[in-house]
Amino acid sequence: MRMPKHIWLALVGGLAGCDGRHSWLAGAGAEARLIEDLFWPFLIGAVAIWTAVMVFAVIAFRRRPKGSDERIGRAIILWGGGVLPAVVVAALLITGLLTLRAMASRPSALTVHVDAEQWWWRVIYETPDGKVFSANEIRLPLGKTTLLMLTSDDVIHSFWAPALGGKLDMIPGRTNRMTLTPVRTGRWGGLCAEFCGAAHAQMRFEVVVMEPDAFRDWLVAESEPAAPSALRMERGLSLFLDEGCAACHTVRGTQANGRVGPDLTHLAARGRIGAGLLALSDANLRRWITHTTDVKPGVRMPSYPAMPPDDLDQITQFLMALE
Ligand code: CUA
Repeated sequence: MRMPKHIWLALVGGLAGCDGRHSWLAGAGAEARLIEDLFWPFLIGAVAIWTAVMVFAVIAFRRRPKGSDERIGRAIILWGGGVLPAVVVAALLITGLLTLRAMASRPSALTVHVDAEQWWWRVIYETPDGKVFSANEIRLPLGKTTLLMLTSDDVIHSFWAPALGGKLDMIPGRTNRMTLTPVRTGRWGGLCAEFCGAAHAQMRFEVVVMEPDAFRDWLVAESEPAAPSALRMERGLSLFLDEGCAACHTVRGTQANGRVGPDLTHLAARGRIGAGLLALSDANLRRWITHTTDVKPGVRMPSYPAMPPDDLDQITQFLMALE
């Protein structure tokens, strides 16, 4: 039998969405591997139930003696629809509960708070010297277990970094806990997995898994105020303060201490802007500032399409210096 072309296209299209950055089959985290270990028995269990019921039904009906339809029907319902699924589902339930317990009981070396907001992520690292604020990018040390404290400041969101581990709802007024133990370095994709409003589909983030020493150095750098070279850019900084950016954004070491939007103190050290949407670059920053609402419909940050080119140059240079 030839499969229609549109089914092939749908299959290929579906698989194309499974790039390694967003795939739980990437095996980048110990928790993701636990889920993978759970997935195969579940898949095999489901296929076993389906196959057994189908085979039994076909064979039994073909070989049925005259007048025995009702008896065979009862047997199929009892064994295929009752006993067999009960046994398989009970086994899968026990496996699932054991996996949940294994994921919840890991002792953690680091605590990171992630607050979801429409439509970005506030990230706060707990360190012995105090809290370190960041946004839209979560850095984790390789081989260490990090406890994520997940909550929301507005509506229900859901935290999901598929390559590293499971997904968990982020609910206003409640803190949900999840652990992640990365086993591969790299940049992994994350996204909001609960519809949360206009820009839900553009609410993304990156998880950067680093060697523990590099992570420690990065965390110290992230806790510092903005780079002195950026603070010396007087024109760019004063435009940032005067154009209204500072009302929503914080740049530590300046008078900008807005809390409505992401902390930008070390923006230029991040891989992406707009909550995971665009790669960080001079051109993309300009596009973001002038066409914010086109790039991310529904976003709370206004566009500045009429900003004079020289001012745009100065603000972009200032932001790109925030390393
Ligand atoms: Cu936040 Cu969907």
